[in-house]
Formats: sequence, C-alpha cells, structure tokens
Amino acid sequence: MADIRLEGVGHSYDGGRTWALKPMTWTWREARAYALLGPSGCGKTTLLNIVSGLLSPTVGRIWFGDRDVTSVPTAGRNIAQVFQFPVLYEQMSVYDNLAFPLRNRRYPKAEIDQRVRRVSQLLGLDEHLHRRSRRLDPGRQQIVSLGRGLVRSEVAAVLLDEPLTVIDPALKWTLRSKLKEIHRDTGHTLIYVTHDQTEALTFADEVVVLKDGEVVQSGTPAELFLSPAHEFVGHFIGSPGMNVLPAEVAGGLVRVGEAVIGRAVGELPPGPVRVGVRPEFVRVSAARETPGVKARVKGVDRMGAYHLVRADVDGHDLVAKVDAGSHHTPGAVEFFHFAADGAFLFRDEVRCGSIAPLEGGQGA
Ligand SMILES: Nc1ncnc2c1ncn2[C@@H]1O[C@H](COP(=O)(O)OP(=O)(O)OP(=O)(O)O)[C@@H](O)[C@H]1O
Ligand SMILES: [Mg+2]
Repeated sequence: MADIRLEGVGHSYDGGRTWALKPMTWTWREARAYALLGPSGCGKTTLLNIVSGLLSPTVGRIWFGDRDVTSVPTAGRNIAQVFQFPVLYEQMSVYDNLAFPLRNRRYPKAEIDQRVRRVSQLLGLDEHLHRRSRRLDPGRQQIVSLGRGLVRSEVAAVLLDEPLTVIDPALKWTLRSKLKEIHRDTGHTLIYVTHDQTEALTFADEVVVLKDGEVVQSGTPAELFLSPAHEFVGHFIGSPGMNVLPAEVAGGLVRVGEAVIGRAVGELPPGPVRVGVRPEFVRVSAARETPGVKARVKGVDRMGAYHLVRADVDGHDLVAKVDAGSHHTPGAVEFFHFAADGAFLFRDEVRCGSIAPLEGGQGA
C-alpha cells in the first residue's frame, strides 16, 4: 500500500471541448477513508475509474507510491472496486463468490477460509454462505459484492461507487458502520463515492467535495460544516444549507442592507461580497440589538427538536435554527444576529474573508 497521487490528471470525453474532470493534482493518502461527495454529473465516477484504470485520463500521470501506473491496466493495479449494482457469479454460492478474488491470486486455502468467514460475519452473510447468489434478493447480492471488494488484504485501495444505492435504508446505517469497522481492521485506503451528505459525513475521515469536475474543498466533516471554503460546500452540506445574503464591504465594515454586522477580516478590497451563515449560527430577537439584520418572518417550521424560522431580507431568504420553545409570528419583523465565528464572506463563490465582532457594540 502507498499514497495514490494524481499529477495534473484530467479527463475530457469530447476531445478537449469540455472537461468532465478538470486537470488536478491530488493525493489520496494511504489508509485513509475518503468520501468523494458531489452532485450527479460532477465527475465522481470518472475520477474513480481513472484511479482503477478502467479509464485512461486525457492528461496527467497517476502514481501509486513511486510507481507510475498511468499506462498499467486495471488488473495490474491491484485495486478492489465495488459498483452501484451487484457484480457476481450468479451460479456460484456466496462463499465461492467471496473466495473468488482470493483463489484468483492463489491465497493459501486456510487463509481464504478465514478471510471469507471474517467478511461474511461482519456483513451478516453467515446464514447465506452456501446459497447460490442468484437466489438472494438484490440488496443481499449487493452486500456480497461489497464483501468481494473487501475480502483481500493487500489491495492498493478499495473504491466504492455509491455501493449502498440498492440497499434498504434501515440496513444502510448498519452497513456503513460495518464498513468503518472493516476499514479500521484492514487499514485499506478507501474511496467511497456518494451524493448523499449524511452518508459522506458519517463514514469518512476526510470528505472531498467535487463540483463541475474540480475539488472545491476537502476536510473532516466538522471542517466542512464549520468552515466552508466555497458557497457550494455551504449549500451542499448541512440541512438546511448555509444562508447567503448580498453584502457590502466599506471602510473595513460589513453591511447587509442598512445593518453593520461586523468588521471584515481578510485582505478585502471594498465592494460587494456575499455573507454566508449557517442557520445554526443565526439568532433571532424581537428587540433591536446590534448588530442585527432586520427581516420579516415568513413562516416557522416545527421540526420537533428545533424550529426553523424562515424570513425575508429585501427579497432574499434567511433561515434560522432556533429552540423548539421559542415563538415567532409570521409577518412580524425581527432582528437576526449572526455569530461572528459562524459567518463568512464570499466573492465569486469562493471564501475571501470572515467577520469579527464590532468593538464597543456600535452598528446600525
Ligand atoms: N462515457 C461517457 N461519454 C461521454 N460523457 C460521459 C461519459 N461518462 C460520463 N460522461 C459525462 O462526464 C461528466 C461526469 O460524469 P460522471 O459519471 O463522472 O459523474 P458522476 O459524478 O459519477 O455522476 P452520478 O452521480 O450521476 O453518477 C458528466 O457530464 C457525464 O455526462
Ligand atoms: Mg457516478
């Protein structure tokens, strides 16, 4: 095992007219569990297939440690890949399907048995081991496919492309934690593709967010939540996503409409910016306090454990996540305060600064 490094790797399916994956330099570190997260069409599968060798990139080189594998076919790369739908030998038993990748590589018989039983036990396949795969329901077949991807010890990486799509939601939770357990056990480098933020956040050591063929941010789940580097990360991660409001930087202060909400931090030329703040970092009060943005309450969604207050600021939506005990009336004008360490400034969607509290509490 070793780091997997992409050096200027990019891919175009149409002779360079558009890039499904924009040329990027990127390292997948050995033994880490990554989630590759992004919306449909952003290039997740393209990236995975380039790592496994199913696809040869238009530009760039791929390194496994100090070995250049750019022109090495899939079979020579020693990668285990699990796809969205089951890939099995239907006539074979579950046991033989799990043993297949090991027999193929001439593992000793005793080790094969031990590995198959370990994976089978972890994935809850014990009672099905001697059934033919085609007799299983599609969800169970996919679990066997997953097992086939995880059964080997010496792979360079395990790549999983939305592996739980066909699995029953209740079982997904169990399988994800099993996957984590197997990862801890084996220490494989794992890249798990998903477009589901919950799946990504619960599973990975590091989440890599892909948009339009490029990585816009990577980090721990907490980093992506607390410190979004790109507006897209703010929207895509979090439920509901980050609020974004037009604002202005002038004289070192940040203004939303008439309200000064704090001091601008960062090398920021004056001019328009956008303020991003997650609903978790917005506080609502009826009294005029500084620094607060005046907004009209449009509605309150009661979510059980908390309420979401939906409001309008000069035609822009603003959502605050508040205690379930608080009362807010649709139509009322209230003041929305942004926690300084939870609000950020963006230009061209990229974070360009943050906000510090006003000294002495002055403001509009
Ligand atoms: N074989 C192909 N030929 C031409 N274009 C392709 C091909 N495969 C993918 N694309 C295009 O490349 C872009 C990236 O596709 P890719 O399948 O990598 O996205 P994805 O993130 O895996 O999406 P999804 O979540 O829907 O699986 C898309 O615009 C897609 O239409
Ligand atoms: Mg895909």
